[in-house]
Amino acid sequence: MKAVGVNTYGGPEVLEIVDLPEEQAGPGEVRLRVFAAAVNPTDTLARNGSRVETQKIDPPPYVPGMDAAGIVDQVGPEVTTGIGVGDAAMAMVVPRGAHGAYRESIVLKASSVVPSPKGFTHVQACSLPMNGLTATLSLDLLNLTDGQVLAVTGGAGAYGGYMIELGKHAGLTVISDASDADRALVEELGADIVVPRGDDFAQKVREHFPNGVDGLADGAVLNELAIDAVSDGGAFTSVRGFSASDIRNINFTTTFVTTLDGDFAKLDTLREHTENGIVTLRIAGTYPAENASEAHATLEAGGTRGRCVITF
Ligand SMILES: NC(=O)c1ccc[n+]([C@@H]2O[C@H](COP(=O)([O-])OP(=O)(O)OC[C@H]3O[C@@H](n4cnc5c(N)ncnc54)[C@H](OP(=O)(O)O)[C@@H]3O)[C@@H](O)[C@H]2O)c1
Repeated sequence: MKAVGVNTYGGPEVLEIVDLPEEQAGPGEVRLRVFAAAVNPTDTLARNGSRVETQKIDPPPYVPGMDAAGIVDQVGPEVTTGIGVGDAAMAMVVPRGAHGAYRESIVLKASSVVPSPKGFTHVQACSLPMNGLTATLSLDLLNLTDGQVLAVTGGAGAYGGYMIELGKHAGLTVISDASDADRALVEELGADIVVPRGDDFAQKVREHFPNGVDGLADGAVLNELAIDAVSDGGAFTSVRGFSASDIRNINFTTTFVTTLDGDFAKLDTLREHTENGIVTLRIAGTYPAENASEAHATLEAGGTRGRCVITF
């Protein structure tokens, strides 16, 4: 069975085709014939060794990838989610060793595998689970109510785009950053106010909201630079572990999507939102498994809008 993995850490070129034994779905499990796996920033960290302490790779290869879509080809006993053989489905994968999304067949707990949005391709569907769930979790952590103001950094990115769309759906006013080239895109995603991106994001936000915003989702990882955008007693959620304390009663939280691993209901809600046009799936390009390194190099070069997707 074909997968894309690494036997040694390094640049995009270390990604290679690896042969893995096929697995069978056990009780409570579903097997997905993967046709598409999205490439996310976290995959590049897994590949270059930045996560080496947490990965415990013994023995290699390590297979990255947190997003898969394809066709269910085995359903184990005791599966009660209603998914069946032949269904188009998508899943968030929490990689461990050779268990990552860059493989043509993967066995997952049934609660992780949700029908793909109807009318969308496998390539489109695989771009949704991980970043959609991350934005869902961030919104939960920010705990904002209808009419409050949400600021988003990195609004043109995958996570930032979902934050804008889900924020608008939740009845929030959304202010986001964008480069000149991305302004139209970020407006189209639904941002009410778009400010130029840069280290002075907080200052730009205060020009529109002198008391600061109620909540901030920091997709661009501005960290300290973004804090001043938040009002006294507001909420700040980070996506790369940044936190702070004792600053104007701001509630700092860290968004870690793995806490939503296996949350069927939340992923299924994202499916519904996609079918209803609330959430947009954006694809930058597709790469056959043999060219996976090209997909990583493209992502790392910056400026991709939409996901690069590896196809099997
Ligand atoms: N903790 C979790 O569970 C979790 C889950 C998902 C994602 N994440 C993290 O969330 C972040 C966003 O992920 P993503 O998939 O949305 O990435 P992405 O698609 O690359 O989006 C990031 C966006 O931020 C922009 N950006 C980068 N540096 C900036 C800066 N200094 N000022 C303003 N904008 C800047 C990027 O523009 P350019 O392309 O022009 O650089 C891009 O538009 C990543 O760090 C990722 O690792 C964490």
